[in-house]
Amino acid sequence: MGRQFLKFLVLSVILLVRFQGQEGCLEEEKKALLELKAFVKSDGYDADLLLPSWVGDTHSNCCNWDRVTCNSSTGHVIELSLSNTRQIDTDIESMFDYSENEWYFNISLLQPFKELRSLNLSYNKISDWIQNQGVGSLLRLEQLEVLDLSGNYFSNSVLQSLRTLTSLKNLIIHFNSFIGSFPSQELSVFENLEELDLSFNGLSDPKSFPELRKLKYLDLSINVFSKHVMRLLARLPSLKYLDLTDNSLRGGLTRQDNGFHGQSLEGAKSLHFGM
Ligand SMILES: *[C@@H]1O[C@H](CO)[C@@H](O)[C@H](O)[C@H]1NC(C)=O
Ligand SMILES: *[C@@H]1O[C@H](CO)[C@@H](O)[C@H](O)[C@H]1NC(C)=O
Ligand SMILES: *[C@@H]1O[C@H](CO)[C@@H](O)[C@H](O)[C@H]1NC(C)=O
Repeated sequence: MGRQFLKFLVLSVILLVRFQGQEGCLEEEKKALLELKAFVKSDGYDADLLLPSWVGDTHSNCCNWDRVTCNSSTGHVIELSLSNTRQIDTDIESMFDYSENEWYFNISLLQPFKELRSLNLSYNKISDWIQNQGVGSLLRLEQLEVLDLSGNYFSNSVLQSLRTLTSLKNLIIHFNSFIGSFPSQELSVFENLEELDLSFNGLSDPKSFPELRKLKYLDLSINVFSKHVMRLLARLPSLKYLDLTDNSLRGGLTRQDNGFHGQSLEGAKSLHFGM
């Protein structure tokens, strides 16, 4: 009886240790999260108020922190929800006030999260990345599938710093400062892209569209595309949803513009062209 109990006790302890080892976050990622918090603080924000669960205590498991999701078997951080990290005013009027709360973000702080699948940096009023000497500003996250950059002031050139993110499936850049012709060449590297949202920017017709074979969902509403863009969209064989609401589709679309003679858009189930 005593021996059995001892055996049970030893086994329980072993299991507990193993369980904790797997559930807890990884030390280097915890350190990286705390550096991220220190970065918010360095900008004059009360980071203890903004990220209260992010504490350096040795017993604190960063997988349980707000805005952090880990893979339960590897302990790696797989999702970071850093939307409006500084809790600033993001109503439309404040968003158009470029003089307030503009932010330059240190992209190197995201580099330690090697297994990250989803990164949400929306509504942070980020104007650009901080240019780090030597390191440049290239984001290298090989597993990243979802990136939300909505509600920032990025211009087209941000795509250069994202060009190694070839596993991206969902790229959301709603409400930023993209202008000029649609950045076809820069976007062509994201060949696994299934959803692209570039709504609420200042983009116009490109000469050609990138051949994004897996793209199903495309939101280009609130830009300055003309109806000629429709012909270019024929290079998107998987397109199911297209939104061109609030563009410069003057003269309206005829069935012919929309026809494509049996080409891709015939498969599109949902088309939105509010004029
Ligand atoms: C967690 O990691 C394991 C091992 O890499 C992987 O098989 C599994 O799909 C991951 N789970 C999630 C939810 O990412
Ligand atoms: C990013 O976070 C915001 C705020 O929580 C949320 O509305 C948005 O849906 C998130 N983006 C993604 C891709 O989940
Ligand atoms: C950005 O973060 C990296 C990694 O923590 C650090 O080495 C670098 O000095 C930071 N750059 C600036 C300009 O703060």
